[in-house]
Amino acid sequence: MNERGVVRRVNGPLVELDHLPGVAMADLLEIGAQWLPAEVVEVRGGRVVAQAYEYTGGLAAGAPARPLGRPLCARLGPGLLGGVFDGLLRPLATAPTWLGPGPSIVDSREWTFEPRANLATVAAGGELGVVTDAGPLAHRVLVPPGIEGTLDWLAPAGRYRADQPIATVAGTPVTLAAWWPVRRPRPFHARLVSAEPLLTGQRVLDAVFPIAKGATAAVPGGFGTGKTVLLQQIAKWCDADVIVYVGCGERGNEMADAMAELAALSDPRTGGRLTDRTVIVANTSNMAIMGREASIYTGVTVAEYYRDMGYHAVVIADSTSRWAEALREFASRTGAMPAEEGYPAGLASALAAFYERAGLVRTLGDATGSVTVIGAVSPPGGDLTEPVTAQTQRFVRTLWTLDRELAYARHYPAVTWRGSYCRDADRLGAWYAGNGDPEWAGRRARAVALLGEADRLAALADLVGVTALPARERMVLLGGRLLREGVLQQSALSPVDARSAPERTAALLDLVLDVVSGCQRLVEAGHPAESIEQADLSPILRAREEFGTDRLDEMRRLGPALLARLEASP
Ligand SMILES: Nc1ncnc2c1ncn2[C@@H]1O[C@H](COP(=O)(O)OP(=O)(O)O)[C@@H](O)[C@H]1O
Ligand SMILES: [Mg+2]
Repeated sequence: MNERGVVRRVNGPLVELDHLPGVAMADLLEIGAQWLPAEVVEVRGGRVVAQAYEYTGGLAAGAPARPLGRPLCARLGPGLLGGVFDGLLRPLATAPTWLGPGPSIVDSREWTFEPRANLATVAAGGELGVVTDAGPLAHRVLVPPGIEGTLDWLAPAGRYRADQPIATVAGTPVTLAAWWPVRRPRPFHARLVSAEPLLTGQRVLDAVFPIAKGATAAVPGGFGTGKTVLLQQIAKWCDADVIVYVGCGERGNEMADAMAELAALSDPRTGGRLTDRTVIVANTSNMAIMGREASIYTGVTVAEYYRDMGYHAVVIADSTSRWAEALREFASRTGAMPAEEGYPAGLASALAAFYERAGLVRTLGDATGSVTVIGAVSPPGGDLTEPVTAQTQRFVRTLWTLDRELAYARHYPAVTWRGSYCRDADRLGAWYAGNGDPEWAGRRARAVALLGEADRLAALADLVGVTALPARERMVLLGGRLLREGVLQQSALSPVDARSAPERTAALLDLVLDVVSGCQRLVEAGHPAESIEQADLSPILRAREEFGTDRLDEMRRLGPALLARLEASP
């Protein structure tokens, strides 16, 4: 392209330019001697306003700009798994400046391609072959969206660079890597109703506030309540095929720690490294702030890419509030009329555009795949009524609210049963019933009821004293404590307990619920409440640290043994 624009004004990430005829909204530009990437966010007569995705220090009026003739895109191909990228999906260590769609890590090596297609005509989403050395998952090479027709040519098995054609479909060459505009959802055939849980290994989530594969969840919580730890636990232990971790505006050293931890973990599914199924998109607090905006869409686009291959992908974004703050900062520089608390009027639609890309789908190639979206929200001062938290709640199916008091009491994860919800619990209960655990829904209902009643009685006991309560209610209070401390608490640092397999979660919850019912029977039969309250119940509280999945039988014997002891004592 020959037109050269000229920079007129620079205000932080906001750059005003002119002499860019024909440039359209959302086009990508490259600006200045460094060719900084920037996206057009306003076209007004001859003037164009762009948001720069890199630091604009040194950019002066009169600097040149060139349009790339395409929107903000991510380059998708083999080589993403195990990688660390910036918000524009450029390999972080190697690409400090943007040089246009030139060579990247993706292009610098050859991949082993095995052709699979055996049809004369192919449709978008159809499989052309597999890259066998792009990580532990088969990397399916699909006919890109928008292309279909005669398969003119298919490359023989061999080694290919990502920019070399491996097929020609209706005259169009298909390469292993391709650009995709990150703000546009990748197409699919049909949205399916998701009824299968995304197992997280975290008991309070899996047993009480589950999330379905292809659904959405948000984790609002004040500073230090455990959002990052919880999201990292999910990244480590969830049963998705691909994990896309977007570090958005959070501290860089936290990201570095997270990466080091992931790299050290072995993958329970493949025996390889867990990082080999992970894509990290990092736009930390020290990086140019508009990159946060890009990183959110880039992350979800990468997840859709793997969804289209028939995988379950999860996008974890920490924190969506830092992204919203970038939107707010930029909006204030444009002089746009602010809405609530200075956020732009488009905040709700921006959040919707992110969360709505979640889903379980039938892909163009007739596979089933999903994108699950999980976002942290960091409300200033822990105020859950602020705009980002309030708007986010409109778009998520599951909410894991972290409670400051629980965190202070070192009850981790600090997911509160009062302010959290799951809108898919009935459907997931039906899935468990059909998949070997018919008790799941009943167990959950009993746990939720016990937590609620124990909270209500605790408030009452504060007023009148525990001993004034009837024995049955005293057992509810005791049961609430056993449930909170013995089941819901789960240390991220524990070698035995950091991940709780579903059968172990079920066994631990059954243990506590059965002991509570047993205690109720004892007091009904006239057993004094004090003697149960004063008995040593610590074996129950220790069970989660003591018995791994391989020792569930011992865990199951604990309840009956304890009840027998209580019954025998006066
Ligand atoms: N599940 C957990 N197990 C053990 N410690 C936890 C857990 N969750 C949070 N913590 C503690 O809380 C601290 C703050 O958590 P963090 O995730 O960084 O908070 P946030 O991201 O909300 O600011 C952690 O450094 C850790 O000590
Ligand atoms: Mg954090």
